[in-house]
Amino acid sequence: SLLAQNRVSIAKTGKDTISRQIYGHFAEHLGRCIYDGFYVGEGNKTIPNINGVRTDVVQALKKLKIPNLRWPGGCFADTYHWRDGVGPKKSRPSMLNIWWGNVREDNSFGTHEFLNMCELLGTEPYLSANVGSGTPQELADWIKYTTHPNGSSPMPELRQQNGRTEPWNVKYWGIGNEAWGCGGNMTADYYANLYRQFATFMSNGSKDYSLFRIASGASDGDYTWTETLMKNIPHSLLDAVALHHYSVIEWAKKGPSTTFDEETYMKTMKQALLMEELVTKHSAVMDKYDPKKKVALLVDEWGGWYDVEPGTNSAFLYQQNTLRDAMIAGTTLNTFNNHCDRVKMANLAQAINVLQAVILTEGNKMLLTPTYHVMEMYTVHHDATLLPVEVKSEDYKLGGDKLPAVSVSASKDRQNRVHVSLVNIDAKKANDVTVDLNGLPAGTITGRVLTSTKLQDHNTFAQPNKVAPTAFSGFKRDGDKLTVSLPPFSVVVLEVK
Ligand code: AHR
Repeated sequence: SLLAQNRVSIAKTGKDTISRQIYGHFAEHLGRCIYDGFYVGEGNKTIPNINGVRTDVVQALKKLKIPNLRWPGGCFADTYHWRDGVGPKKSRPSMLNIWWGNVREDNSFGTHEFLNMCELLGTEPYLSANVGSGTPQELADWIKYTTHPNGSSPMPELRQQNGRTEPWNVKYWGIGNEAWGCGGNMTADYYANLYRQFATFMSNGSKDYSLFRIASGASDGDYTWTETLMKNIPHSLLDAVALHHYSVIEWAKKGPSTTFDEETYMKTMKQALLMEELVTKHSAVMDKYDPKKKVALLVDEWGGWYDVEPGTNSAFLYQQNTLRDAMIAGTTLNTFNNHCDRVKMANLAQAINVLQAVILTEGNKMLLTPTYHVMEMYTVHHDATLLPVEVKSEDYKLGGDKLPAVSVSASKDRQNRVHVSLVNIDAKKANDVTVDLNGLPAGTITGRVLTSTKLQDHNTFAQPNKVAPTAFSGFKRDGDKLTVSLPPFSVVVLEVK
């Protein structure tokens, strides 16, 4: 037959919304993410900034329409005492950043700097609170300090003394991070009890929104962790459980970020595609206790994790970003879209200069990574209605290993435009995909593609635009059937209207 072996059928209608919060980011006090990445200091005369925040970064992130930003950790969050980071900078105490290189944290970037930056970016803050070495009182006070109206109690007065009268909007609150590990090495039972205690004293000061309380969730396939939280925490106190999954081959032998071979690539993609199984199985556990899907699953850390770039501090997790990362991003975001009935938020780790970053900086230079471009191409899915897809994919094979080559998701936006994002992870073979439009009106179809000559290609400060999206015309329409020719290792987004 003339039809390709890869088949996609797009439902004409859908009922679930792809929350734009799925396209969220993560900024930890780690390496050069905050200092040098987002923040270069108010007095900086060499790097253009707005109140110390890099102007180039603000512009780039606004283009991504980043919906939320998680801060201040990660592991760092369970060592962080927010009071150290408010008030006159000269009198802020320093601390030791024990998780990330034992560097001195001078607390010059604190609550005001972060929340004002979120307003500048037009993004919603997601504060990750200290459970491991903090107290319920400290969290209760942080909430009052940031969100309660002025004049209501001493905390908002302190905020005013420190220069901010109006509360900020802070809806998303994480109660600890990786409680099973760096957050306190707790058992799930013990953490569930602590969660209940901390959540009890979170008082909502806003009339406009309720606080969204997020439990520190499982690592990878730890379904018992999710089950324990779902069973032991009253759902009246719980809005979401989190999940962390990194595309790492082996913690002891992660391999370089750019000079990898195809076998290594296959192993990374196996880890990336595992997200589909993880989300499906954690959701199934949640369904048992919450069939109406009131509690959300939040993948608040995900991405590729490799060796640091040669010559950089091994605790700073600075790595390059290639087409392999674009494949991780494209397939993972398709998975999140397709599970948007349960996955309501996700946070790529991390925004700048750390792990699978969307932005890298060096002095006053900045570059956008292939992952940035995927995120930008996928902005069309933000808050659109998911159109469920059925996908039949050929295998991408290497040696004895195989993985489905093609990943797809589709949505319809408020203007009735349909967007289809297709990824071909095959490192060598182009893949033709026959898309059944099922009667979707298709007056015009346009497309964009992200690919390159080599899988290992990446952007450098010398060549910042080597990998960037281009217009795509590799499709043919025949009535209701659209045949799309996906180049090897490519991400394609089509607009059908
Ligand atoms: O993103 C880096 C680290 O990975 C985070 O601090 C921690 O939560 C996870 O283990």
